[in-house]
Amino acid sequence: MFTLNVNGVDHEVDVAGEMPLLWVLREELGLVGTKYGCGVGLCGACSVLLDGQATRACAIPIAGLRGKVTTIEGIGTPAAQHAVQAAWIEHQVAQCGYCQPGMVVSAVSLLSRNRDPSDADIDAALSGNLCRCGTYVRIREAVKSAAAKLREAHA
Ligand code: FES
Ligand code: FES
Repeated sequence: MFTLNVNGVDHEVDVAGEMPLLWVLREELGLVGTKYGCGVGLCGACSVLLDGQATRACAIPIAGLRGKVTTIEGIGTPAAQHAVQAAWIEHQVAQCGYCQPGMVVSAVSLLSRNRDPSDADIDAALSGNLCRCGTYVRIREAVKSAAAKLREAHA
């Protein structure tokens, strides 16, 4: 039995210790916003925040999990969007959408430590997130727009 805190709520799960966090989230907790892409830490589709830091959920066995998890479901809701989510809609970033929860998670992580990222900062922070639809230009615009909104809100 393992206890994990996801989106501010403690959960107990009775699974094998080697089960990756990704499958605990999707199969045990029903949080299917976090996507399975490669399963080996290379595509970023499974990104979640672990104590605020973007982390690959496919690469963490549940027995090794330390810290609080925030999934895309915990970042914002349609009624209370995070600035990044609002910017994603404003810039119509998503194409097929599959990579986008991971992209949003990585963008939120970036903006929590850098409120004025350059193109190079954005590219570096999101370099581990792959988009087969090629939405990278719109992603950059949306991250900059969210950064400006966050700077205004905290001015
Ligand atoms: S599914 Fe985790 S990095 Fe690709
Ligand atoms: S929007 Fe299709 S993979 Fe990124």
